[in-house]
Parts: sequence; structure tokens; C-alpha cells
Amino acid sequence: MKTPKRIEPLVEEGLVDEVIRQLMSGKEATVYVVRCGEEIRCAKVYKDANQRSFRQNASYQEGRKVKNSRQARAMEKGSRYGRKMQEEVWQNAEVDALYRLAAAGVRVPQPFICFEGVLLMELVTDAAGNAAARLNDIAMTEQQALQFHAMLLREVVLMLCAGVVHGDLSEYNILVDANGPVIIDLPQAVDAASNSGAAEMLERDVDNLATYFGQFAPKLNGTQYGKEIWALYVAGLLHPDVPLTGKVAAHKKPVDVGSVVREIALARKEEEERRRAQYEAEH
Ligand SMILES: Nc1ncnc2c1ncn2[C@@H]1O[C@H](COP(=O)(O)OP(=O)(O)OP(=O)(O)O)[C@@H](O)[C@H]1O
Ligand SMILES: [Mg+2]
Repeated sequence: MKTPKRIEPLVEEGLVDEVIRQLMSGKEATVYVVRCGEEIRCAKVYKDANQRSFRQNASYQEGRKVKNSRQARAMEKGSRYGRKMQEEVWQNAEVDALYRLAAAGVRVPQPFICFEGVLLMELVTDAAGNAAARLNDIAMTEQQALQFHAMLLREVVLMLCAGVVHGDLSEYNILVDANGPVIIDLPQAVDAASNSGAAEMLERDVDNLATYFGQFAPKLNGTQYGKEIWALYVAGLLHPDVPLTGKVAAHKKPVDVGSVVREIALARKEEEERRRAQYEAEH
């Protein structure tokens, strides 16, 4: 096909030889199948910031590193330079997360480069060599659902061991290749240690998996793997092969009735003294 304008710089640089076809146009990016020498790859072209949705909001940006304080100030002010920086941080976040996760052994597409707002990465394919289907488009048995769910929990644990929370994990951002699920779409990924919303995001990601696979395997409904994984992480006990139960211990500590009664008595006494002091001041 004719080379889309946004991919021209990559052709000029010799990073891409030919654009074969458009694969998908999502909310935030358009994805193409491209040829780089002998290799067939995938090029994700990010849309402009103003066409993007919720994922660039502040809660995802917190704790994200920029190169220097000049950039940080410009981004805060929202100047044109600042907006350009914001764009770069956003686009580089996905390639950074992909490198970090691929190195940690997580099943993600191998990234190559992010250049001029285009991410070049491995094309995830099915057994026949065609672009892989999304999890959402695949019918499955209960047994298959349980197996994929277990595999994905392990991926989530591996990601968290590498300090990353996906932040938008769902059946739409998981592809299925010949060996099982592959996780994609990470520009909003957050740093587990420095983002104060990380616990909530991890729990939501893991709950999304239980809800989706729960349609095929009802015993997954109501499981609490997200809370359990986060608790292990906080306690420093998370490692890639940690056994999981899907249950977390309820707070069993009984309410200390005696201390509640003492607090009430104290508050009453203070109020009496306040009134007496006020009466004495007025008379
Ligand atoms: N590496 C890849 N290999 C094969 N297909 C891919 C790859 N990356 C993306 N796709 C396809 O392109 C679609 C959109 O990609 P992605 O989810 O990264 O972008 P997006 O614009 O954020 O999408 P959406 O808004 O729909 O979530 C995916 O659902 C998938 O079908
Ligand atoms: Mg997506």
C-alpha cells in the first residue's frame, strides 16, 4: 500500500522497507503490518494527544520520570515545548515498558524502536502466521479459560516483579499466539513503587481477568488474586513462582469494646468541662 505520511520518516531512515497493510485503527493508535528487510513487523502510529482518552490523565502520569528539570517545568506549564515533551514521555513509556518486560521474560511483543511517534515491534502471529486474534474474539472451554487465567496471573506477577503495573489489562489488550496469551498496549503502564494508584490499578487489572474468564469458568468469579498479589508484593514476598490461592485473610481482630467505651467517656467529660468553662466565663 501507499506509505502513510507518519511512517515516511521510518522509510527514509531505512527502518521500514514497505507498508503492507493496515491492521487495526484503535482509539489511540493505528497499527500497520510492515516489512523490514526479510522480517514482517508491526508499526503502531500514535494519534495526537487531543484524540486520546482517559489513559493520559494525571493518575497514570504520577511517578513517571522525565529527563531533566527543564522538561518537568515545561510540562507543568503546558507550553508548546512542554506538550511536545509530554508526547515523547507518553510514546516512550510504551517502548520502555516493553523492553523492561521482555527482559523480565513477560510475554509481550519484542520492541525495536520508537521513532517520530511510531513504535516498531514484533508482529504477534497465530500458528498459521497471520496476525494473532485478540482474546476477546476467541471461544473457549472452561479448561482453556482456567489455563489462560493461570498463565496470565503468572504474567501479572512477573510484571510486578519487574516493577510494572499494566493499568489497562483486559481481553482487548491480550493477543493469543500459538503458545498462549501475549500482553500488548502499554503506554499507560505505571511504576509500581512510585505511583500511589498502583495498588488499585493492579487490582482492577486482575479483576478484569477474573470477570472475563469467569464467563467460561464460573469458579473464578469472586476470587481475590489482585489483593493477594499486591499484599505479597508489599510484604516483599512476591516472586515469579509464588503459589496463589485467590483468597486473602479477612481482618479477624475483634473490635476492642473497652477502648471504645473509654473514648466515649473521655469525650463526654471534655464536653462537660468545655460547657462549665463557658458558663463560668459568661456569669
Ligand atoms: N504487536 C502486535 N502484533 C499483532 N497485532 C497487534 C500488535 N499490536 C497491536 N496489534 C493489533 O492492533 C490493535 C490495537 O493495538 P493497541 O491496543 O496497542 O492500540 P490502541 O490504539 O490502544 O487500541 P485500543 O484503543 O483499541 O485499545 C490490537 O487490538 C491488535 O489487534
Ligand atoms: Mg488496545
